[in-house]
Amino acid sequence: MINKKIFFSLLLLAAGFLSAAAQKSPQDMDRFIDALMKKMTVEEKIGQLNLPVTGEITTGQAKSSDIAAKIKRGEVGGLFNLKGVEKIRDVQKQAVEQSRLGIPLLFGMDVIHGYETMFPIPLGLSCTWDMTAIEESARIAAIEASADGISWTFSPMVDISRDPRWGRVSEGSGEDPFLGAMIAEAMVLGYQGKDMQRNDEIMACVKHFALYGAGEGGRDYNTVDMSRQRMFNEYMLPYEAAVEAGVGSVMASFNEVDGVPATANKWLMTDVLRGQWGFNGFVVTDYTGISEMIDHGIGDLQTVSARAINAGVDMDMVSEGFVSTLKKSIQEGKVSMETLNTACRRILEAKYKLGLFDNPYKYCDLKRPARDIFTKAHRDAARRIAAESFVLLKNDNVTLRPGTPAEPLLPFNPKGNIAVIGPLADSRTNMPGTWSVAAVLDRCPSLVEGLKEMTAGKANILYAKGSNLISDASYEERATMFGRSLNRDNRTDEQLLNEALTVANQSDIIIAALGESSEMSGESSSRTDLNIPDVQQNLLKELLKTGKPVVLVLFTGRPLTLTWEQEHVPAILNVWFGGSEAAYAIGDALFGYVNPGGKLTMSFPKNVGQIPLYYAHKNTGRPLAQGKWFEKFRSNYLDVDNEPLYPFGYGLSYTTFSYGDIDLSRSTIDMTGELTAAVMVTNTGTWPGSEVVQLYIRDLVGSTTRPVKELKGFQKIFLEPGQSEIVRFKIAPEMLRYYNYDLQLVAEPGEFEVMIGTNSRDVKSARFTLK
Ligand code: NOJ
Repeated sequence: MINKKIFFSLLLLAAGFLSAAAQKSPQDMDRFIDALMKKMTVEEKIGQLNLPVTGEITTGQAKSSDIAAKIKRGEVGGLFNLKGVEKIRDVQKQAVEQSRLGIPLLFGMDVIHGYETMFPIPLGLSCTWDMTAIEESARIAAIEASADGISWTFSPMVDISRDPRWGRVSEGSGEDPFLGAMIAEAMVLGYQGKDMQRNDEIMACVKHFALYGAGEGGRDYNTVDMSRQRMFNEYMLPYEAAVEAGVGSVMASFNEVDGVPATANKWLMTDVLRGQWGFNGFVVTDYTGISEMIDHGIGDLQTVSARAINAGVDMDMVSEGFVSTLKKSIQEGKVSMETLNTACRRILEAKYKLGLFDNPYKYCDLKRPARDIFTKAHRDAARRIAAESFVLLKNDNVTLRPGTPAEPLLPFNPKGNIAVIGPLADSRTNMPGTWSVAAVLDRCPSLVEGLKEMTAGKANILYAKGSNLISDASYEERATMFGRSLNRDNRTDEQLLNEALTVANQSDIIIAALGESSEMSGESSSRTDLNIPDVQQNLLKELLKTGKPVVLVLFTGRPLTLTWEQEHVPAILNVWFGGSEAAYAIGDALFGYVNPGGKLTMSFPKNVGQIPLYYAHKNTGRPLAQGKWFEKFRSNYLDVDNEPLYPFGYGLSYTTFSYGDIDLSRSTIDMTGELTAAVMVTNTGTWPGSEVVQLYIRDLVGSTTRPVKELKGFQKIFLEPGQSEIVRFKIAPEMLRYYNYDLQLVAEPGEFEVMIGTNSRDVKSARFTLK
């Protein structure tokens, strides 16, 4: 017999389920919105399409004024980057109680990799290859943001990029569309939860649609030009995956696509997004995306606003082009009433789906912030996930004490004197990483502080800054904006260096905390030189000359060119920007409390001239023979080979893994068939550890040219020392499909190569035929 308590819980559950289901009925929603829209004036409908920025936090130049009056007049559909649940509640009150129809506002924010509890920057997060962890990070971000009044996040950013000069690679998931699509889905699920009904589930916004990561020369906001075939095979998949996962909104990108800015591109916003992919949410522009089309050179504000809404864009972020010109365009017949109604309906639907018409204060529970934000549990998760994102790039054997055998430098026991040196060693504000709008910057311990806390009573942490970030003071200023100052030191380079060498000479081991500041990547932070900056590299060279063991703890938001470092530094741990708990997570990895298992999701070039450099390249008609550097009249360079310094998928561990040969269950399949590729992976070292087993496939002969390999699957496994596991991948014809010359998604009969390995370079291979 069910006891009473369980019975009542079941009843409540059923009631909750029914009410949620009732609210979700499309007919109910249509009826509600029909009735509401009947009451709305043209101005009020246009008002729903208006998204001004508020708050202390702005990301661009424009600032909207007089927002309160506009809200009361019904001229605002949502606001963004306002922080604080009380402020948000007060503004919501103005909309609900003081505007004629009381339509609630959306409150958006760039919650990109955490809210106050910060997770690694997205590029770092992608290096976990752990979809559960990635979804968890988005879930926690949603819980915290919603506790503070936010109903909508401008994330995930899923732009594929093969150009590390572009600063925004830090905000995405790297170069691969297959992995990018999986991450897009995990993020959307994390933010939106089951159906956005709970008050800790918020609406996601996939961005930047489309191709923003392919700007020429890696320069932000720059022109994009690519074939449709490349678009659909290499760039579109993650956006489409987010749509399939039910993302509520899409953000248009700044760049042009096929000569028309994305914000006015009907083919993109209507034919592809809605027609081909079935998207039924709303499209918002990026910041001043509409007014920027004046500079793109396609018309004045009225013209570009009309083009945007006619293309299928529903909401205008900051330009105020819709509120100031749409009425005129309707009167002049340049925009139809039907088009306006459609856009307005989409915004109202989003509010309805979020439950804001039922309860406009759904996200305004003043008790929640204290309970739900920056909690111990969230911070523990952030620490664990940060450590999972670190990529061990090098770990040579060194002799620590005379007469003892050489052993890997990392991990090491926290004892004796540990020197932590470098401009990134003692900065709190640089720990969370770029795009941490809601983070309380000063609350994240610096590396020095974190390590001191972790080693108290066991080791001495000594510190010296060693150098400024960059020798050029004005460059440093540009690279440390938004409260991320590294407190430029007025001493000379030599004085800073001498102090560091004194500290280094007293130590048993040196941690060199070097690389980029957090604002050297992110928006509007493109670089043409990807070395560790000048004075820092010099510092590193001098530290190595002391003869002490040096570990390079690399902070970076993008792949850097580490050719010199790879040759000379015994151990390199790439920690990206790990978020609010990064300092502890770095300690966990250095001292071996966790075994780093992150794998790169972007190739690291040997020099900038190799860019764009990516593993899934085409073969060309004159490929270089494998293992060769240069051959006359082949596709290569005179001065550097074609290989990356660290390939996609690369990352070491404190243990080692061996791979057996690939065992295919069959060598031929037909269009309805399937085969299994199995490989035995063994932990051959002395540490327990994770391994990302990667499956790549090459279509050896196609009706158009095909990449030399493409990621088609992966499994993250965990093995104890000596343990083996057979990892199996199912291979079905769907996985072999691609967009052919006519943009049909087809699998073509012929021979395929299957490759499985620890990264995109070191693989075992086998072949099968598709009939
Ligand atoms: C501009 C950025 O491109 C976009 O990613 C961001 O969401 C908006 N500003 C809003 O801050």
